[in-house]
Amino acid sequence: TVARKPLVAGNWKMHGLASSAPEFVQMVGAYPAIKDKVDLMVFPPATLLTSFATATRGAGVIVGAQDCHPEASGAFTGDISAEMVRDAGGGAVIVGHSERRSDHRETDQLIRAKAKAALRASLVGVVCVGETEDERKGGQALAVVGRQLAGSLPDESSPETIVVAYEPVWAIGTGLTPTVDEVAEMHRFIRDELARRFGDAGRAFRVLYGGSVKPGNAVELLAVEDVDGALVGGASLKADSFLAIARAA
Ligand code: G3P
Repeated sequence: TVARKPLVAGNWKMHGLASSAPEFVQMVGAYPAIKDKVDLMVFPPATLLTSFATATRGAGVIVGAQDCHPEASGAFTGDISAEMVRDAGGGAVIVGHSERRSDHRETDQLIRAKAKAALRASLVGVVCVGETEDERKGGQALAVVGRQLAGSLPDESSPETIVVAYEPVWAIGTGLTPTVDEVAEMHRFIRDELARRFGDAGRAFRVLYGGSVKPGNAVELLAVEDVDGALVGGASLKADSFLAIARAA
């Protein structure tokens, strides 16, 4: 078995103002005590990226963006490039979150281009996959996730540069989670797909679980074989709950 350092990542989505800084500063302050055991990433809204990057300097918490454009620069009003994220002090970027797949009609092909942009800019790309409730009920969960993986991951992906996050859409923000057996089945499937495509390196990628991870269920979810950490939404906004999840890892 390959040793994979756990990673706990907080996706703040469209939450957070300058007044949220103390929450982040508390996370940064608590991190040295657990640094050897777990990597920590926080993805605030882009407006806070620079100030958070400044706040974490030296402490080791990686900050990142929630999305990026495939191109490095150009006439793309409202978009942010991976290079800009790096320039702002970011070290990572989430691509293909289900909220972008659905609200912005992002395709696997576009997500792959964004993941490539992350690699180009030396950012860790956190590539999200996950089935909808209907797809799971229809017995399609593995097929859908397999398709998303095949389409969204660049061929150049490596365990150091790409993290996979499995987020069942129906578990996001709902308080619902899959059973431990369902999580185990999906993560084993993702692991096998990675090994099939990337050989031995596939065993070293980190695969996170996301969807209603809270301090109360983190121990159980993070103990599942082939779950290498969590991508946390709501519970990542508060230092206390986010750190509790990080300690569970
Ligand atoms: O990216 C994390 C997210 O989609 C999960 O959200 O609020 O269910 O933890 P939440």
